[in-house]
Formats: sequence, structure tokens, C-alpha cells
Amino acid sequence: MAHDSPATRVTPPAADESLLPMPKNILSARVRKKLEQAAVKVMKNAYAPYSNFHVGAAILLTNGMVFSGCNVENASYGMTNCAERTAIFSAVAQLGPKIEIQAVAVANDHGVACSPCGACRQVIYEFGPDAIIFFQGASGPKQAHITELLPEGFRLQ
Ligand code: THU
Repeated sequence: MAHDSPATRVTPPAADESLLPMPKNILSARVRKKLEQAAVKVMKNAYAPYSNFHVGAAILLTNGMVFSGCNVENASYGMTNCAERTAIFSAVAQLGPKIEIQAVAVANDHGVACSPCGACRQVIYEFGPDAIIFFQGASGPKQAHITELLPEGFRLQ
């Protein structure tokens, strides 16, 4: 895959990792770290002249692919796109609508608490009703299931 491709793929676990029984949707430390590193890397591309708060997000799909995105602000503030939605929309643009998000990592350049905003939670839920989110909490790194962050998320029946 090209060096500057928007997506990378997580390789299958090493032999020793795969010997461990893995509960459903629990990521290995290696995959979690890779996802967090991708979020930190893309954060540097953020366009955030109004808030000066640079955010990066990386999503792991159930097919093993990783997509990343940063926040893109606008002089009309409400037009701002968060890092999480940039990553998700990028994955859909690349692969089409049949993606399933397994995990999301969020990084920010202030080292402060930063969980996905309400709008992003709803968008994560659309493509990842069983997704795990890694983010900076008030007292350190946290992980939460999307339904903990967004109880009773909306689905069109
Ligand atoms: N932001 C994100 O990109 N993701 C989050 O999880 C929280 C907030 C962005 C939006 C805006 O560009 C800046 O952070 C300040 O709100």
C-alpha cells in the first residue's frame, strides 16, 4: 500500500497473541497502540485556527483496516468537522457504505479530556454499534463502549 494512503491494515495477531482467548471486541494492547499512534500522527494535519485545539482520530474496521482523520474548522464555526467524523467519512468514501467500526482512538494536542462530541457519537453508532472508544478522560486514558457514551442511539427502523 502506498506510503501516503489514507488507510493502513492491522496485521493478524502474532502466534502468541492468538493463543489467548479474546472476549468479543477486546483489542490487544498492540492494536490499541497502533490505533492511538495513528490518531496522534493525523492530529498534526488538523486545521484548527479558531480553537487552536488539534484533534486526531483513528478508526479500526472489522476488516482490519485503519482510517484516520483530523478536525477541520471553518470561519463559520458550525461548519467544523470533528476528527472522528473526518475519519469515518474518509472510510466510507474509500470503501463504500458497508463498513463496520470496531474501535476508535481519539488524541488531542492539549493532553486534556476529550471524548467524542454528541454528533460524533451518533455517527460512530451508525457504523459501529459495538465499537469501543479510546480517549483521554478527566483522570487519564479511558475506554468505553459506544452505547455507554450514547445510550439509546438513534436508528432508523
Ligand atoms: N473536536 C474534535 O475534532 N473531536 C472531539 O472529540 C472534540 C472536539 C474539535 C472540534 C473543534 O475543531 C475543536 O475540537 C474544538 O472544539
